[in-house]
Amino acid sequence: MTGELSPIDKAKFVAAKRAVDFVEDGMRVGLGTGSTAAWMVRCLGEMVRDDGLKIRGVPTSTRTAALAREVGIEVISLDEARWLDLTIDGADEFDGDLNLIKGGGGALLQEKIVATASDQMIVIADVGKEVETLGAFPLPIEVIPFGWQTTKALVEEMLISMDVLGRNVTLRMNGDAPFVTDEGNHILDLHLNRIGNARQLSMVLNQVPGVVENGLFIDICDVVVVGYGDGRVETR
Ligand code: 5RP
Repeated sequence: MTGELSPIDKAKFVAAKRAVDFVEDGMRVGLGTGSTAAWMVRCLGEMVRDDGLKIRGVPTSTRTAALAREVGIEVISLDEARWLDLTIDGADEFDGDLNLIKGGGGALLQEKIVATASDQMIVIADVGKEVETLGAFPLPIEVIPFGWQTTKALVEEMLISMDVLGRNVTLRMNGDAPFVTDEGNHILDLHLNRIGNARQLSMVLNQVPGVVENGLFIDICDVVVVGYGDGRVETR
């Protein structure tokens, strides 16, 4: 499955491989999105095929759903599962309190719903995602297409009123067109450099009309499994 991996892919793979040890027979598992989560889905597929592991997976994107089916994982919807035993997902940043920035892959809305509906959320990440303070990675927020420029202006005003330092807000593009999420929405990326009060920012952002959800995951993640390029794994 792995062949010759670059150090970054090795770090992602070993984190994913360790995290699937938490998965037990009969579990309903939330399946995250992104390159690290894809390793986890492939590892689970191998366990289903070779060890007879019986799980049902709830994917957090159409991409992950396609991969899960391809590797032989039974896919169900969140409405069928209602509640999940465990979600395993990647992250763009995590801090010492295990708070996260997610959404680099544009799947933050389904990811947050699925993680919140889980008894446990395990994040898998290469060590480069570890930060002292969240915010160097642009914070994605999902906005509805209707009046998105007004929503953007409202978000910018809100950032000024909160005295947030970096305030550059950009519409995520896919070539010449705006990026469209699985829910048919757009993504605004907030280039903030440093997020002083992530909990407050998350709450205030979600009050702006047109904002569906933001990529700050506060008090949702339980464990971070960190992979290194030399194959070491640590748990936070
Ligand atoms: C997708 C996400 C991903 O988990 C995040 O972007 C990390 O991706 P990768 O594992 O490819 O670095 O939040 O919306």
